[in-house]
Amino acid sequence: MGGNLLTMFLLVSVAMAMVPGSLQLQASQTWSLLKIQQLLNYPAVLSHWHNYTDFCYGADYKTTSAFVECYGDSVTQLHIIGDGSSSSPSAKKPLPKSFSIDSFFTTLTRLPDLRVLTLAGVGLWGPLPGGKLSRLTSLEIVNISGNYLYGELPVAMSRLGNLQTFIADGNLFSGEFPDWLGKLPELAVLSLRNNSMMGTLPESVAEIPSLRSLVLAGNNFSGNLPDLSGARNLQVIDLANNSFGPEFPRLGRKVASVVLAGNRFSDGLPPELAGMYLLERLDVSGNRFVGPFMPALLSLPSIEYLSVAGNRFTGFLSGNISCGDNLRFVDISSNLLTGTLPNCLSAVKTTNSDSDSSSSKTVLYAANCLAGVGVETQQHPAPFCKNQAIAVGIVPDQAARGRRGGSGARSGLVAGVVAAAIGAAVLAGVVVFVGVRKASMRRAQARPPRRLVEHASSAYPSKLFADARYISQTVKLGALGIPAYRSFSLVELEAATNDFEVSNLMGQDSHGQMYRGRLSNGTPVTIRSLKVKRSQTSQNFNRHIEMISKLRHRHLVSALGHCFEYNLDDSTVTQLYLVFEYVQNGNLRGRISQGTEGRKLTWVQRISTVIGVAKGIQFLHGGIIPGLFANNLKITNILLDQNVVAKIGSYNIPILSETMKSEGGSGNKYPSDSVPNGDKIDIFDFGVILLEVVSGRPITSIYEVEIMKEQLQSALTAEGPSKRRSFVDPAVSKGCSDESVRTVMEICLRCLAKEAVQRPSVEDVLWNLQFAAQVQDDWRGDSRSSEESPLSPSQIPRESDQ
Ligand SMILES: *[C@@H]1O[C@H](CO)[C@@H](O)[C@H](O)[C@H]1NC(C)=O
Ligand SMILES: *[C@@H]1O[C@H](CO)[C@@H](O)[C@H](O)[C@H]1NC(C)=O
Ligand SMILES: *[C@@H]1O[C@H](CO)[C@@H](O)[C@H](O)[C@H]1NC(C)=O
Ligand SMILES: *[C@@H]1O[C@H](CO)[C@@H](O)[C@H](O)[C@H]1NC(C)=O
Ligand SMILES: *[C@@H]1O[C@H](CO)[C@@H](O)[C@H](O)[C@H]1NC(C)=O
Ligand SMILES: *[C@@H]1O[C@H](CO)[C@@H](O)[C@H](O)[C@H]1NC(C)=O
Repeated sequence: MGGNLLTMFLLVSVAMAMVPGSLQLQASQTWSLLKIQQLLNYPAVLSHWHNYTDFCYGADYKTTSAFVECYGDSVTQLHIIGDGSSSSPSAKKPLPKSFSIDSFFTTLTRLPDLRVLTLAGVGLWGPLPGGKLSRLTSLEIVNISGNYLYGELPVAMSRLGNLQTFIADGNLFSGEFPDWLGKLPELAVLSLRNNSMMGTLPESVAEIPSLRSLVLAGNNFSGNLPDLSGARNLQVIDLANNSFGPEFPRLGRKVASVVLAGNRFSDGLPPELAGMYLLERLDVSGNRFVGPFMPALLSLPSIEYLSVAGNRFTGFLSGNISCGDNLRFVDISSNLLTGTLPNCLSAVKTTNSDSDSSSSKTVLYAANCLAGVGVETQQHPAPFCKNQAIAVGIVPDQAARGRRGGSGARSGLVAGVVAAAIGAAVLAGVVVFVGVRKASMRRAQARPPRRLVEHASSAYPSKLFADARYISQTVKLGALGIPAYRSFSLVELEAATNDFEVSNLMGQDSHGQMYRGRLSNGTPVTIRSLKVKRSQTSQNFNRHIEMISKLRHRHLVSALGHCFEYNLDDSTVTQLYLVFEYVQNGNLRGRISQGTEGRKLTWVQRISTVIGVAKGIQFLHGGIIPGLFANNLKITNILLDQNVVAKIGSYNIPILSETMKSEGGSGNKYPSDSVPNGDKIDIFDFGVILLEVVSGRPITSIYEVEIMKEQLQSALTAEGPSKRRSFVDPAVSKGCSDESVRTVMEICLRCLAKEAVQRPSVEDVLWNLQFAAQVQDDWRGDSRSSEESPLSPSQIPRESDQ
């Protein structure tokens, strides 16, 4: 127990300090004590102090509320426990305005051998004078609880190299947790209960070398806790009544007492808890925990006190669950538990069986869905818990998975408005990050925040998927080997990404992360997480999901499904995951301007891929309603699959801007609609891609586009084919027909027209490219002189979709 441990540390130190001497107290110290009495305004508890008092050796002058201990002629302990530390609030008041905390501590410094100091509830007010306090270098144990001390803990305290225990409960200390505490080599007990401190706990907490007890309950601390598993001596952790969370902290195996009640923890409990064989007290009540209750906690060998009340723990309890021998308090009330009360708990149901106090247990279990217990315990019918569990999206088989806490950010905060796509920043990651990461890297802070899991099929209206157009599309694409669009559960996505392991992280931006993964059936996927800013129900996303479910085409990196993650409190969506195909064969630039010799695409393959891109654009513009325009097309976002089929890896999904703009109201204009000539913007970008495909030179700026456009123009207007040839990538120029090249160059130039209206339509582009493919084919048939290798059927642009 926390209290016991604490008392034990105190006693050990006190005993060491109590070696009695045989002299009289120095006169100056007597004077100091009397001065202290005066500065404290002659409190009642010191009414027996006089100028003739033998403070050290006159036993009559020691009361439990005030006493002095000495070593030789010097005071080593001073204890003054004022009325203010009693429970009666009326007794509690600060010393008068004339009180000076500075003079008080100046007087204290005249007791230079002071090792133990208790000044509890004596009405001290003001900021702790660090400089003076730090002169008391012998101090080992300090308890200044129940006063009115304010301000930050002074950094000068870090000079108290002997300090073992510092207790300042019930004051008005503010500021953040001091990170210099790690400099105190002996500090074992730190208690700052009921102050006004805030901020997150720094990593350095785990570096306070001797820390055994950390009590920060009743402050305003927030955020996730640092990893405390490195704090080897830490046994007592009381962080109740703050705003910590959402992740359950990592703890050392030897903790004895963990009190996290009344915070904002919302993930599940980590399975490691079941291995904490020294754990005596666990209180996680009044949080937002979800997931399965671990019955193993009841049977921990040391457990005495277990409270999980007021969370949303689920699970089926059976009679045969066993309890630890030391268990004397269990509170599982107000959760979503079903089944029956375990026999080891129901044997002693009520609190006051005084007859045999050693075996009596307090067991509280009201407001669950347990069967066979009294009506007075207000159990809900079993379906209630089931429905609640589903409503908050708890997947039943989660129980089977040892879930580790997630990380980082609170869900649901995205700033700024972004009209541009999931696009460039996102799927470009496919290209950039593939194969760079070491598989051994462990998951870290990059993991997406999470709360709850959607059951794979519970929350989504099935009529959406019965949409006839959607089905016909699926059937068609199914033949191309893309799995049908569906809703995923978070559990599936966790499994696919090895619990969002960092080695699977492909990239991230302000909207979330992008992971590579593999579904259980082997399908490689990319998973894009999107934070949702405003409170929205999943219904608000119907329109988006409907659109996303249609983003499936041979020449798109197609959508395979989605997954919602919900806020526990109000079932709003905090995070949306979009699952896409994973296209494995690099991007188009890697096979054109940056391709190594053997990997460079032939002319025929180049025409084939750009035809694919054009078809993809055609689909984005006209194949779905509303169309997606201004897709910020780039050659590096054109991905190639193993059959060298081009797929547009990045397009303008309006969900981001939508999510942030409207609350599901009537503002249903997609931002891409409002981009004038959005379709012609895509045509221009396509022209730039074409320019690189033809010339084989990487184009990275609009300036280069201008220069090469001029070269293209002059090559086209020149007499004879040689100038045109010189423009074409030397790697392919020998193997292509002049007419084919000229056709592609001409359409390319038109795509790059300054005036949007002068640019061709995508149909026009397609027709020309197909013509170029045709004449090339004919030319190849005529002249077998080319160095090109025979083509496989898949490389010939003969696609029937769209
Ligand atoms: C102690 O205090 C009394 C009055 O309370 C005073 O008369 C006496 O002189 C003081 N003695 C010393 C030694 O200061
Ligand atoms: C600090 O001192 C007060 C007064 O003696 C006591 O009630 C309290 O328990 C002490 N705090 C700790 C943490 O020991
Ligand atoms: C801290 O504050 C809470 C609530 O105000 C109170 O119940 C508790 O007794 C206080 N504890 C201390 C040590 O002051
Ligand atoms: C806690 O901190 C937040 C801001 O960080 C503030 O709004 C709130 O009032 C604080 N609460 C208390 C009890 O001090
Ligand atoms: C949290 O605060 C409440 C009152 O605000 C108090 O009753 C409760 O005991 C505190 N919990 C802990 C574990 O300190
Ligand atoms: C406990 O009982 C449940 C059914 O009530 C059964 O499935 C389970 O195997 C039992 N476990 C043990 C350890 O007996």
